[in-house]
Amino acid sequence: MQEFMGKTAIISGGAEGIGLALSKGLGALGMNIVVADIEAKALARAGQRLTELGVEHCTIEMDVAIRDDWQRTAALAEERFGDIHMLINNAGVGGGMGALGNLDESGWRWAIDVNLMGVVYGADTVVPLMKKHGEQAWLVNVASMAGMAGVPMAGSYTATKAAVVALTEAWSMELAASAIHVSVLAPAFVKTRIHQSHRNRQSRYAATIAPGPEVMRLAKGSATAVENGIDTELLVARVLEALAARERYIFTHPKYRLVTDDRSHNIAQAFTAAAVSPVVKDVAEAPMVMGFVDD
Ligand SMILES: NC(=O)c1ccc[n+]([C@@H]2O[C@H](COP(=O)([O-])OP(=O)(O)OC[C@H]3O[C@@H](n4cnc5c(N)ncnc54)[C@H](O)[C@@H]3O)[C@@H](O)[C@H]2O)c1
Repeated sequence: MQEFMGKTAIISGGAEGIGLALSKGLGALGMNIVVADIEAKALARAGQRLTELGVEHCTIEMDVAIRDDWQRTAALAEERFGDIHMLINNAGVGGGMGALGNLDESGWRWAIDVNLMGVVYGADTVVPLMKKHGEQAWLVNVASMAGMAGVPMAGSYTATKAAVVALTEAWSMELAASAIHVSVLAPAFVKTRIHQSHRNRQSRYAATIAPGPEVMRLAKGSATAVENGIDTELLVARVLEALAARERYIFTHPKYRLVTDDRSHNIAQAFTAAAVSPVVKDVAEAPMVMGFVDD
């Protein structure tokens, strides 16, 4: 873990939960930590804890869904510590829950802006700075097991986390020739306050419909699962091990392979059906064309 010593990491949503645990864990390895978060009180508590632990750090109140806030965050990181070597796009929210046909549209916008655009803005701001200095760097996007398969009545969370998985795959191809290692962290349940993420729901995304009994039941179930999830310290140990080994997909719950195996099986069956279909016989026999230019 010597390679992290003296390097600088920006951790969004770093004031609580997984982000705070990563701030402590990476700080203990000698990294300078920029804790970026929307919640001022949580930031103050996190800053105090990191000071007690002797972690080199600074904090910044920002909203990942606002591009300019990323400019301020990157500028502060460079001013305080010089080059940025790691970005952990960790801030995330539950989004609007509900069955199809009962859309909480502002909850969708909230999830898209924070869980997806927050990751896009973060990477778009920081990756060019990493490319410029050219040293070994890490881009870690925090998705979820929910992004590896669908979760009923959690469409906005599922869709945005699936998008983060796909983005990571695209970016790791784009950055393959650079010194930036790209990975996606996809945990299942971890003991944090993610089930109370409405505490950080900005007023511009105020809910337009009240959650019905089905949503309340689902929310209660996922709250119980989160409360019985793994400890953040265990997650951090797994992340550090995976980063050192340059893993692209960072998983914390091996049993959830059942979920992705089931999905892979269904996808394989769908390809088999297409391969024997007379309708696409000519397509099946034509050479395969990839949709990007390789020069
Ligand atoms: N806890 C789990 O079971 C679990 C499972 C899979 C994935 N995740 C993902 O892990 C990440 C961290 O979540 P957590 O479980 O630690 O939850 P958490 O609610 O404990 O922490 C989230 C942090 O993000 C901050 N935040 C929220 N909105 C923000 C915004 N717009 N801008 C900046 N900061 C913002 C919060 O203030 C908080 O400090 C999220 O992306 C979440 O989706 C969590």
